[in-house]
Parts: sequence; structure tokens; C-alpha cells
Amino acid sequence: MGYLIETTYFLTAVLFIVGLKRMSHPTSARSGIVWAGYGMVLATVVSFAHPQIIAHADSPNGVTNYMLMLIAIALGGAIAWWGGKKVQMTAMPQMIAIYNGMGGGAAAAIAAVELLKDHGAHPLPISVALMAVAGAIIGAVSFSGSVVAFGKLQELKFFKDDAKFRFPGQQKVNLAIFSAAVLLGLIIAVFGHPHGGLVLVFFLTALAFGSMMALPIGGADMPVVISLFNAFTGLAVALEGFVLGNSAMIIAGIIVGSSGTMLTFMMAKAMNRSVSNVLFSNWAALGSGEAQAVTGSLKPMDPPDAAIQMAYAAKVIIVPGYGMAVAQAQHKLWEMCKLLIERGATVKFAIHPVAGRMPGHMNVLLAEAGVPYDYIADLEEINEEFATADVALVIGANDVVNPAARNDKSSPIYGMPILNVDHAKNVQVIKRGKGAGFAGIENALFFADNTRMVYGDAQKVVAALIQGIKDLG
Ligand code: TAP
Repeated sequence: MGYLIETTYFLTAVLFIVGLKRMSHPTSARSGIVWAGYGMVLATVVSFAHPQIIAHADSPNGVTNYMLMLIAIALGGAIAWWGGKKVQMTAMPQMIAIYNGMGGGAAAAIAAVELLKDHGAHPLPISVALMAVAGAIIGAVSFSGSVVAFGKLQELKFFKDDAKFRFPGQQKVNLAIFSAAVLLGLIIAVFGHPHGGLVLVFFLTALAFGSMMALPIGGADMPVVISLFNAFTGLAVALEGFVLGNSAMIIAGIIVGSSGTMLTFMMAKAMNRSVSNVLFSNWAALGSGEAQAVTGSLKPMDPPDAAIQMAYAAKVIIVPGYGMAVAQAQHKLWEMCKLLIERGATVKFAIHPVAGRMPGHMNVLLAEAGVPYDYIADLEEINEEFATADVALVIGANDVVNPAARNDKSSPIYGMPILNVDHAKNVQVIKRGKGAGFAGIENALFFADNTRMVYGDAQKVVAALIQGIKDLG
């Protein structure tokens, strides 16, 4: 049986890796999720035949334990199914935050069971107990930190004002709490047979550190923080996998931990920030002072006029942003692009690495609308091309096209690579009004001589543009 279980776990690992590989391309990403999902189902089902679970079944509480496990799986599965169906695309980051937190919490719970369990004649070796304790700290930090991240992204009232969670000497207090958690963990691991109260204090300290770490970080940085906690969860699961001797947990945990770490660094790089700067700086206070005042005026344009300019353009570059996701305008947008292509125009989509609210946000939406991948270009590939575009259409994007990132040293986004939309011959910006972007700052692009504002909800405006182009025959 042991051989069969290990072989199945190996197959599971292969499914996870194939799934992850497929997730790296928009056209295969959906099937990648399914492949990895099969891996998870397989690992869960075969775990019921694991000797440790069988041993539980033979214990006096055996049947009750099995029933509890099945009820937990059914409950968790039903909530996740309902949540997955119901969640809006724009609320995806907070859903990822909370699910990720659950993973960290589950790893910490495994550690709690193993540390408190009477192991009889075979107490946990110190090395294993140390791994359990390390997994417990990392998992608990990920759990409470992810709950805070969820609260911030969901804009729950309590979490709204980041400033109220900042105080002088905060980092020293956090370091003291973290050190206390590590010290308690060491005592528990080294002396063994811990008192339940001590384990409780240990977990409360680790949970406190996780929330203290996340509370002062601004909402705009939350996706990076979630990605970091995701890596923590992977690490915690891998460590508890070592404690339980479960290779599926070790492999899955390491995959999540390493990919989460890479993603964290890639996101920080795309914002021209370091991870420590994200974690320990008050982002809103970055920049050396007041942002430069924006001069000029906003120049509105009606959709029929915008449609004429668009229809006679030889080259159009489209820059989607968070507002396109809010308006769910991607399908209409592609419909409009097909009309332009039929009229002989060259159309491209320019994707900024942090457009929207999560990595790959725009790629996923465009893939959903059926945009072929060769129409989509990354920032480095397309930035030089804006100067040759007759029209650059900015649809619900703001910060990722803000020239202040290039030329205003006092701006909080200074140094972030941006799409050079302002270099295009004409710029059309679709947005509802004067709303700022995530960074909450003014955008000089909107006031530039070559920019026209086409006001309205992105989906409605694009529908009007389609009509305008069709009317031209
Ligand atoms: P944002 O800067 O957030 O701007 C979105 C714009 O869309 C707003 O100015 C808003 O203006 C407009 N909008 C909202 N709803 C709309 C609708 N229904 N129709 C038309 N327009 C609408 O978006 P962005 O340019 O994509 O930048 C992303 C931001 O998130 C960056 O600051 C980035 O650093 C941050 N961030 C992203 C990530 C990832 S991984 N993507 C991670 C961390 C942080 P109106 O209200 O006037 O309509």
C-alpha cells in the first residue's frame, strides 16, 4: 500500500507541475488550473489509505474521525464551490488572500496537533519538532496576515485607514513579538511535552506578529503582500509535510513556496520597488515631497468623434487597466478591434505588468474575450511603438500610464516603469470621470495637448464607438 501511495503522490506532483506550466500562458491557463485540481483530488483521495489515517480509523475514535474529515471536506468544498462561482473578477485578489490564509492556518493547525499529541514511546525528535514549530510560526503569520490583507482589499471599515495602524517604533515592537514567538517555539521544541497553555500563547504570539506585519501596509501594496504570504503558506505546508512524512505535502508546499517567492519579486520589480520597501515603508509617504502640479485642461470628446478618429487610424494601441475589469468591457473591446482590423488597421494591446489588481489580470480578461495572444505585447516589447501609433486608447487605466513615474521625482510612483502612451500621436482615455487611480494621484497624461477624454463606463463607451465605426460604413 505504501508503494501505491508514494507512486500516486509522485503522479500528483507531476500534475501540479504540468498545471503550473500551463498556467504560465493565457491560452492554456484555464486547463492548467484543471490539471492541478485533478492532482489535488488524487492526493486527497489516496491520503485516506495513508497508514497514519488507517491508524486513526483503528483508534477508539476512528469512525468519528473519518466522519469529521468527510464533513470538513464537504463543508470546505461546498463553500469554495459557491465562493468560486459567485466571486467577481475584481474581487479575486481578496478571495486569493483568504484561501491562501486558510492554507497557512491549516499548516499551523497540523503543527498544533503534532506538538500537543502524546507520541508515547516515540516522542518527536528535536529536528522534527523544530520543523513543526517553524511551520507553525510561518503558517500562523500567513493566516493572520492574509486575513488582514482580505479586510483591506475588501475595504472593510475597520481596515480602511492605514495610518491609524502606524506608530513610532513599530518595527522594533514587531521584532520583539517575532522574537517572543521564536523563543516560545524553541522552548516547546526542545523541552517537548509542552503545556497546552504554552502552545496557545505561542500561537497567539505568531498570529499577532502576522497581523501586526500586515496592518500598516497600504492597500495598493496588498497584492505583493498576498503573494509573499502565499509563499509563506507553501513553506509552512512543506515543513509540516516533513513532520508528517507526507511527500505530496512537501512537493506541493515547495512548488507554492518557490513560485510565490518568484512572483513576489517580479511584482515588486514591476513597481520598481524592493520587497523590503513594500513591507517596511509607508508607501503613501514615499516620494520626496508634494507631487508636481498638473497644468492644462481636460478636453472631452464625444464617442462619435472618437470613433471617427479611431476608424481612420492606421495603427491603434490599446492599454487596458483596472477600469476595463470593473466595466467588464473586454468582449466589446475585442468586437471593436475586429472592426478596425477589417478596415485594415494594425491593432495591438499593451499590457503593463501591474495593470489591474493582480498579476496577469488583463491577460486573463483578454483571453476570456478571445483576443489571440499575438495581438498582446508586454511593456518592454511595445513601449518604443507608441511613437508610431495614430491612436493610443487607454481604457480604464491610470497609474500605469502616468508620466509622473518618469519625470516627477516627488511622485509616489516615481521610478515605476510605465507605458509611453503620451508618445502616441493621439490619445483617447476612457474613464467615468475625474477618479484617481490606485495611487490616488493626478495624471498629467489626461491634460496633455494630444489627449481627449471620452467619459463614461468603459463598456458603454466602447459600444458607442462600435456603433460610430459601423455608421461610417
Ligand atoms: P488604476 O490606476 O487603478 O486606475 C483605474 C482607472 O479606471 C481609474 O482612474 C477609474 O477612473 C477608471 N475606472 C474605474 N471603473 C471604470 C469603469 N467602469 N469604466 C471606465 N473607467 C473606470 O488602474 P491601472 O492603471 O490598471 O493601475 C493598477 C494600479 O494597481 C497600479 O497603481 C498598481 O501599482 C496597483 N497594483 C497592481 C497590482 C497588480 S499585480 N496588478 C499589484 C499591486 C498594486 P474613474 O473613477 O474616473 O472612472
